[in-house]
Amino acid sequence: MSPAMVGAAAEASDDESQFQKGVKHLCEKAISRVPGKYILPVHERPGRAAIGNDAARVDEGRKLMSLPMVDFAELRSSSDRPRALKSLAEACEQYGFFQVVNHGIPEEVIGGMIDASTRFFGQPYEERARYMSSDMTSPVRYGTSFNQSKDKVFCWRDFLKITCEPMPQVLPHWPSSPPDMRNVVALYAKETKCLFLKIMEAILESLGLPLPATGRGSVCEDGGIMTQFEEGSQLMVSNFYPPCPEPELTLGMPPHSDYGFLTLLLQDRVPGLQILHGDNWVTVKPILGSFVVNVGDHLEIFSNGRYKSVLHRVLVNSTESRISVATLHSLPKECTVSPAPELVDEANPRRYMDTDFASFLAYISSCEPKKKNFLESRKLLS
Ligand code: OGA
Ligand code: NI
Repeated sequence: MSPAMVGAAAEASDDESQFQKGVKHLCEKAISRVPGKYILPVHERPGRAAIGNDAARVDEGRKLMSLPMVDFAELRSSSDRPRALKSLAEACEQYGFFQVVNHGIPEEVIGGMIDASTRFFGQPYEERARYMSSDMTSPVRYGTSFNQSKDKVFCWRDFLKITCEPMPQVLPHWPSSPPDMRNVVALYAKETKCLFLKIMEAILESLGLPLPATGRGSVCEDGGIMTQFEEGSQLMVSNFYPPCPEPELTLGMPPHSDYGFLTLLLQDRVPGLQILHGDNWVTVKPILGSFVVNVGDHLEIFSNGRYKSVLHRVLVNSTESRISVATLHSLPKECTVSPAPELVDEANPRRYMDTDFASFLAYISSCEPKKKNFLESRKLLS
């Protein structure tokens, strides 16, 4: 190898290790261009239509769209509940997403979580890096992109993933800095778990399933499904998207669906989340203090395809950083998810194979899936 080649190779691997340190670390060195590592192929860039090459559709997506609203004040009122359940069902069928208001989680808990995440990401790289791990089963993982050991093109995001259960076992592994982080996360995890359970109750009712539903066939044998959810898995993901000098070349998160039953997403005031609605990417209008809730793969399977786990992605922008906190809820990790027997009959044959957490982990660890879409691999009928 010529000396020049040696130099080039050393530079390339040096760059690669810089990218592994995350996009916030990269931005601390005042960059004016997006490095090649983050540049998507032309047809995957945010300025392209989801289907075809229609500029009008792209412009349409730039407008902010309000998601269907689910109002807990209505769900709590016996006279309004039937109507609220109907709009919940329609949102899950037509959008796979809805916005929850009057949810009862105190403003301080919500503001506290965004604030603690902001302060976590604001710490020096060395402090954040203590939680970097390539072990998918680790209870705390700090990292970057989507799957930083597999992604060819990186996305413009750093994350902190925290496993929330069983709390007594996992809490000692959580970040100890900022000093109030563990308390804030524990409180936020409890409150969002409670809200998840209330939303799941409404969802089961909206699907016409008996409450408490039995575990027959569809979930672990012991106890009803609500009991299983109480003991279920909960993963918290704080996302940090720094400002990006050329936001049209990259994404904060590539198109993906979420694996669990429901994801509760808290976003700050900066727009970025886009969902695939019809054939278009539409940008969700942030409503401070409310939650964006989406149907995950497990709920699509459980509802035998009635409720949709919809692809979504994140745009970045050139002026402001953005923070979001997602909590992903499902059954206990050892449980199998199947279509609810009540929702399978001759007119609605079973559409999905059984699935479990282990097969999901095997899927995401094995490849760089094009659309990060695990659900496709579980479909029996198309
Ligand atoms: C996620 C996700 C969207 C956002 O964490 O799975 O889709 O707006 N986040 O950060
Ligand atoms: Ni998501």
